[in-house]
Amino acid sequence: MKKTIKIGILGLGTVGGGVVNVLAKNKAEIFARTGVNIEVGIGCVKDKNESRICKDSDFDTLTENAIDVINSDCDIVLELIGGTSFAKDLVIAALNSGKSVVTANKALIATYGNELLKLAKKNGVKLLFEAAVAGGIPILKTIEQGLSANKITKIAGIINGTGNFILTAMRDEGRDFADVLSEAQKLGYAEADPAFDVEGTDAAHKLTILSSMAFGINLDFSQVKTSGIGKVAQIDTKIADELGFKIKHLAVATNDENGVAMSVHPTLIPKTNIIASVDGVMNAVMVVGNAIGETMSYGAGAGSDATASSVIADIIDIINQTCGNSILGWKELKNADFITFDDTESEFYLKLSVADDTGVLASITSILSEFNISVEKMLQTENGKIATIAIITNKVKTKDINLAVAKIEKQNFNKENIQLLHTFS
Ligand code: HSE
Repeated sequence: MKKTIKIGILGLGTVGGGVVNVLAKNKAEIFARTGVNIEVGIGCVKDKNESRICKDSDFDTLTENAIDVINSDCDIVLELIGGTSFAKDLVIAALNSGKSVVTANKALIATYGNELLKLAKKNGVKLLFEAAVAGGIPILKTIEQGLSANKITKIAGIINGTGNFILTAMRDEGRDFADVLSEAQKLGYAEADPAFDVEGTDAAHKLTILSSMAFGINLDFSQVKTSGIGKVAQIDTKIADELGFKIKHLAVATNDENGVAMSVHPTLIPKTNIIASVDGVMNAVMVVGNAIGETMSYGAGAGSDATASSVIADIIDIINQTCGNSILGWKELKNADFITFDDTESEFYLKLSVADDTGVLASITSILSEFNISVEKMLQTENGKIATIAIITNKVKTKDINLAVAKIEKQNFNKENIQLLHTFS
């Protein structure tokens, strides 16, 4: 088995730079899983003098000529430049030179995926693209591996972070479409052409890929019916809210006896549906299978390290499939260093029944402060001479909250055992 795998990276922007950084940060962890060192051999940028989020010292070679990457001794090429013209030529060249390719390029795969996958097969190499759909969420691997016993009948996803960010801010902050879009662009979530985000093209690219994987069909981007979020006014988000809905830019694909349908459109979703809780730039993909029923995967749909996580998972996949490293998972299990429960931390909910007398609240907060516990939220109701006080604390050690509770319970003003619950954050 090879002990070192060299990668060559085309494009060192948000995703490419993230791959270099995450590989460096998680070197030991990745080695423990694969038994292989992943080395960054050569990186290609448009302009060597432009600043990058990764260090030059992480590369053997930095070039401005993409062909240098194809001609290098790297085992796997990462195509992270985007677009469908030059990127396509480079992927074809890499596959023809016998190198496996990992890409995050949804437009490329949705448009030319059929021919590129055939070419990879012909050359006996791999073409993987987990990062092309929903950034860091490993949804393609989930469909391909974890759900492989199912006939998949439906996919519903919030798979464009920029659009979701815009709709969430319009509803929650009463802001205008254009204003929120410009913020999403500044945060680096938006596509080079933001029309791809707001008109649903980006989500349609991703839905094309999801449908192919889930239903076993050829990629056919031309079949996705797309309607953008530009037509959603701020008032629509308010009215929908009052009616018990959230408006989301939903990508939906169905597969039944009548055939397959794929569409992306603004959709009112009942607030009680789990997918309605996916706000901001977060993504989620719901997959319905005839054995498992409904499943939902949730996570960061864009961003440097999150997307790099999916790119690197594909690299590891190729290593496991092609380098004689057929055992998936950790090479060796180790004993964990467990944290004692007393030292674990949480925000806590406390409910006290106390005498409704002057100074009682001050005594409670004074005891809490002895243990460095502060009150984040408080609610008080009175019932005759007894007051019920509910408190949410800051994040504290379990041993400290237990000591504080024990001390409060010893006070004369305390009338019942204190209810103490963890809160989830
Ligand atoms: N523009 C995309 C989004 C980036 O906002 O989701 C990740 O594909």
